Amino acid sequence: MAYANLIVETRDHVGLVKLNRPEALNALNQELLGELNEALMKFDADDRVRCIVVTGSEKAFAAGADIKEMSEKTAVDMFRLDFFADKSRGVERTRKPIIAAVAGYALGGGCELAMMCDFILAADSAKFGQPEINLGVIPGMGGTQRLTKAVGKAKAMEMCLTGRFMGAEEAERAGLVSRIVPAAKLMEEAMAVAAKIADKSPIATMAAKEAVNRAFETNLAEGVMFERRLFHGLFASEDQTEGMAAFVEKRAPQFRGR
Ligand code: CAA
Repeated sequence: MAYANLIVETRDHVGLVKLNRPEALNALNQELLGELNEALMKFDADDRVRCIVVTGSEKAFAAGADIKEMSEKTAVDMFRLDFFADKSRGVERTRKPIIAAVAGYALGGGCELAMMCDFILAADSAKFGQPEINLGVIPGMGGTQRLTKAVGKAKAMEMCLTGRFMGAEEAERAGLVSRIVPAAKLMEEAMAVAAKIADKSPIATMAAKEAVNRAFETNLAEGVMFERRLFHGLFASEDQTEGMAAFVEKRAPQFRGR
């Protein structure tokens, strides 16, 4: 399926989505977000796909929501269209792991989109920011919440109040990104990490994603209980039998997602 604003492909068990609106530094307009929703939902439903990578260009992962598209909107328009909630649900609903491979600008909605993914692999050129304050608004795709949970109140507050960008090194120190790689190696490394995840049991990786995400939604006792129940449930999968048998037999496991 061809998209106007995305390049989508599948390589082995990895689904790759490249945001492709270079003339606007991948600014997230409604059409792009709708396409992203659709592409992710398709990957989620496709049994061949076990891990997803979302990326942008060398210059910009995404420079935010499309300011030109938003500038004439009224509060009623924004409310009626449920701006951003409606079109970003695909990212939140995807049950398979999603890696954001970020080079260049990840600003506003671009930073928020990256944070909605399961983890961020950053090029050394990456710049993260929530500059909405410069436009007379605030983040609207979860930035005040996810950035605060990722980097703590002091940095999140400073970034949201001043619009200051954070470079890759600071982002790694603060816990916003899992790792930094040289920009020229970003895609190679992101695809290698995705392939590594795709080699695991897809039942177990979905369960791991759900369990880690639970840490953000609940208290420790509930989260640990949730994790334990998922852990117990995995013993009903053929992949658990295979994974443990392979260890005992000193061979590589063959996970089939059952
Ligand atoms: N929306 C629409 N168009 C954008 C855009 C955006 N967020 N960001 C960049 N563009 C467009 C520019 O208007 C420009 O188009 P023209 O050539 O037609 O003028 C083109 O992309 C290239 O951009 P620049 O010439 O500005 O490139 P630069 O290298 O000089 O600067 C930049 C790069 C610092 C990222 C700058 O483009 C910029 O500040 N962009 C806006 C960043 C921003 O404020 N993002 C937050 C948006 S609001 C939001 O995201 C709300 C939310 O929480 C969901």
